[in-house]
Amino acid sequence: MYCMEQDVEQILFDKNELNEICDRLAAQITETYRDSGRELVFIVVLKGSMFFASDLLSRIPLACEIEFMKVSSYGSATETSGNLQIHLDLKRDVRDADVVVLEDIVDSGRTLSKLTALLSDRGANSVRCCTLLDKPERRQVAFDADYVGAEIPDAFVIGYGLDYAETYRNLPYVGILKPTVYTTSDES
Ligand code: PRP
Repeated sequence: MYCMEQDVEQILFDKNELNEICDRLAAQITETYRDSGRELVFIVVLKGSMFFASDLLSRIPLACEIEFMKVSSYGSATETSGNLQIHLDLKRDVRDADVVVLEDIVDSGRTLSKLTALLSDRGANSVRCCTLLDKPERRQVAFDADYVGAEIPDAFVIGYGLDYAETYRNLPYVGILKPTVYTTSDES
């Protein structure tokens, strides 16, 4: 049987480290909203944030609602609005709610800058973003997440929700994919 682990070059964050990150982020988010008095809505952006969101949300003791979206962005690097494709939309109105978008990674910044703008346009009282991973070197559109698990270098990361060609999401850690997996053999 094919085993994914043979394609992993290095483990970046093992399960213990991921648990520590989730503990810290959950405490920060809980502190922010503890006394807000407003509806709190977490938006899990599929598919990459599924494991992260599950671990994070189970550590937050506040009453909240959990919604799901699936989106993708396209267009030129300088476009900061529009060009957000919504594949799965919210089932509720977020007007006047405090919204926290949960992501696995911020890369160019396009998806999150557009998604947070959209949610603000829909009348949310506040929109914040919590990302497990941040690749600031790759940014093409100005975007700062409010809560960041860890900054990482520009490497191809997989596992704990993150994929390459829709595979590796179920690795129980975040690792770096071996370049031989995504480079062609005729380069040698
Ligand atoms: C990833 C990630 C973010 C986006 C970040 O999603 O979950 O949504 O890319 O990239 P950006 O900062 O360059 O916009 P992806 O489209 O790979 O979908 P997935 O979560 O289903 O894997």
